[in-house]
Amino acid sequence: MTSNNKKKVFSGVQPTGALHLGNYLGAIKNFVSLQTDYDSLYCIVDLHAITVWQNPKELKDNILEVASAYLACGIDPKNSTIFVQSSVPQHAELAWIFNCISRIGWLNRMTQFKEKAGKNKENVSSGLYTYPNLMAADILLYQADLVPVGDDQKQHLELTRDIAQKFNNDYSDFGGDNFFSIPEPLILSGSARIMSLRDGSKKMSKSDSSSMTRIELKDDNDLIVKKISKAKTDPLPMPGSLKELDSRPEVRNLLNIFSSLREETVSEIINEFNGKQFSDFKKNLSDLLISKLEPIRLELLKIEADKSYIRDVLSNGSYKAIEKSEKTIKEIKNIIGLG
Ligand code: AMP
Ligand code: TRP
Repeated sequence: MTSNNKKKVFSGVQPTGALHLGNYLGAIKNFVSLQTDYDSLYCIVDLHAITVWQNPKELKDNILEVASAYLACGIDPKNSTIFVQSSVPQHAELAWIFNCISRIGWLNRMTQFKEKAGKNKENVSSGLYTYPNLMAADILLYQADLVPVGDDQKQHLELTRDIAQKFNNDYSDFGGDNFFSIPEPLILSGSARIMSLRDGSKKMSKSDSSSMTRIELKDDNDLIVKKISKAKTDPLPMPGSLKELDSRPEVRNLLNIFSSLREETVSEIINEFNGKQFSDFKKNLSDLLISKLEPIRLELLKIEADKSYIRDVLSNGSYKAIEKSEKTIKEIKNIIGLG
């Protein structure tokens, strides 16, 4: 198949801090496995990042760090387009158009905005509020068919689908009928919501003030062992059935991590460790994490040191992305009746 008739995948990661195991298992690992069968675009979404304050110097470094992490995890620039969102102006242009398609009532339902804004609703940026319209623009600019993301992005994907459908309907008499294909989310159960190592009810996140809650891609082997040995569990023995996990969120999380890394079901892992000590399980989990993450970390450090290679990859990526998005934007403007 030539790249032209392959289905398209689009996804993005914000350059807002150290990437962690949740980003890897929930998103980037899947980006890697999709890239051979799909025409894939993987974006570093810096315009999303600035919806909350970013120190400019750190933002620049974080952009290169996400690019390095993409490469170190196995995204191959020969198969995939890797680029920075702000280097392709069509993202912001389409986002403006979608600001005019999307409805206030739809945005008001977004739980991520409510969580991020919290009590400070009147004083957060308006970009944080319209963020899902920009995300819809990212995806629809390339007419992506599939969007691999973690569970927290599900609602934003639904909004993207609503925007695509509304555009198609509103402009159906003007050449917009079925213009946008409706993208499907790819949210894998098990790895779509990796939880904090310290609290099984909270998502593992870049923004948690304690780094003991997450395994970062740059953690060395000793730190991985330390974080897993201190990971919260409960006083009960290793579980004997899936049912028991309903009331044991921390244990479920560790088993989920084990199962996604090993690519075996949680039941298989339960059977393997049934009757064994927790310390045994944790030792095996650390070993497994190290076997998967150490090669990534070493590669990441190597790539990060080669800034001109990263810049080359990004400028090639942006060239390819502009070529694709210019065509779509032209068609969209023509349908709408713009300039
Ligand atoms: P972000 O770091 O918010 O830009 O997220 C990048 C990708 O990682 C998105 O697809 C998220 O849904 C995914 N992600 C972030 N945190 C987690 C987590 N704790 N578990 C699974 N996926 C996650
Ligand atoms: N909103 C996503 C997050 O915070 C990042 C993102 C931006 C994205 N645009 C996207 C993900 C398009 C998938 C597709 O994780």
